[in-house]
Amino acid sequence: MARERFTRKRGPITLPETLDIRGGPKAVPDGLMRPWPPISDLDRRMVLASLDGGQHTYGPNCKALEKEFAAWNGNRHVLVCNSGTAALHMCLAACACGTGDEVIVPAYTWPSSATCCLHHNCIPVFVDIDWATMNIDPAAIEAAITPRTRAIVAVHLHGLAADMEAILAIARRRGLKVIEDGCQSHGAALKGRKVGTFGDCAAFSTNQNKSLSSGEGGLFVTDDPALLEQGKTLWYFGENRVPDASVEYHTYGMGWMYRQSDVLAALARAQLTRLDGHLAQQKANAARLTERLTGVAGLVLPSAPPGYDHTYYNYTIRFDMDALGHAADAKAMRDKLLAALRAEGADVGVWQGWPVPEMTVFRARNAYGKGCPWRCPYAGEADYSVEQFPVAKRHSDWHVGMTTPLRSPNGPEVAERVAAAFRKVLENLDQVEVRV
Ligand SMILES: Cc1ncc(COP(=O)(O)O)c(C=O)c1O
Repeated sequence: MARERFTRKRGPITLPETLDIRGGPKAVPDGLMRPWPPISDLDRRMVLASLDGGQHTYGPNCKALEKEFAAWNGNRHVLVCNSGTAALHMCLAACACGTGDEVIVPAYTWPSSATCCLHHNCIPVFVDIDWATMNIDPAAIEAAITPRTRAIVAVHLHGLAADMEAILAIARRRGLKVIEDGCQSHGAALKGRKVGTFGDCAAFSTNQNKSLSSGEGGLFVTDDPALLEQGKTLWYFGENRVPDASVEYHTYGMGWMYRQSDVLAALARAQLTRLDGHLAQQKANAARLTERLTGVAGLVLPSAPPGYDHTYYNYTIRFDMDALGHAADAKAMRDKLLAALRAEGADVGVWQGWPVPEMTVFRARNAYGKGCPWRCPYAGEADYSVEQFPVAKRHSDWHVGMTTPLRSPNGPEVAERVAAAFRKVLENLDQVEVRV
């Protein structure tokens, strides 16, 4: 067996040709990859100070986080809440999307981008994605608009901004609200402008895997004080008091409980001080992967169109199943390649294996029971047949993605090893296929 050489300075690592699944050594040694997020003394100090401060529910750290994130992102108003999903639901309420209203959502995203519509009795209407960007295809939006359409959820997937210029132009022309789902894309920008500053309001997540990480959490952002008040109605048991109300503990409308804990906000504040550095590391790791994988036959690498600042929250690679001769059994082949890569120690996975409209909640109309909200007399027809979303389907079947290898404190040595794993597997496909 050839001896492993580590030639990072001169060029890519070269490895023995025998894949781990055939008894060879792993490309990524155990223990090399470190977990996300790195925890610093500042994190510890701020969390302990919150604990000692005695206000563990929505408290001073929540209020400070709102100001600090608003300053960092360029928003007028921020309300910290307990998940990105909660923030999305608040966006629906803020935009006065109501019973039977239709909301346009990309067919490939995290389910919350669509289920937040169901939470507010609205009907998600899906639109296919663009193959190159993996974001909603603006050219397909117009055809999905009906007299019931109220808003577009513009998801900035995997760290890349959606085409906000095209989306805003359609929305202005057709009188629609624009909700940005920036849950994966803190710091992503288009022509120097950060996501979350384009639409009427936006949602960010701070759950553990996110670039801004506090275990769980969300941020509802808007520049419009009226939308802030409207979004807030869900936030605290519907206790949005009318100005002359004096009754305490009185619910004025339908509400949820979306407040965040001060302890987690303290962690988010500490992490926010390092967010720019973490994003820079993420981008550097992505650049190293791209450099090492460019030209490897059978891979379609992620990229950003001119003018877009991609944070590479998730570095997603598509296998070119046409070139590999596996278009007919793409999903099975992808799963074999994935197993071979994982055996090499590369921390890759399938992020979403289905277009959202193919998921059971939409297939079975399985939300509030008895077919609601689709059966509501105010709702129109919704067609979720997956044939309408061929790009989302192909993407679902052909991709693998990764997050931890991109994240601090992992640096170039991890990117080099993960790239070596991809090259090793793609250059020794015979060893993958004989295991069918
Ligand atoms: C695109 C997208 N939207 C919404 C969410 C929901 O965020 P959370 O898990 O904080 O509710 C996520 C994350 O998981 C996401 O990736």
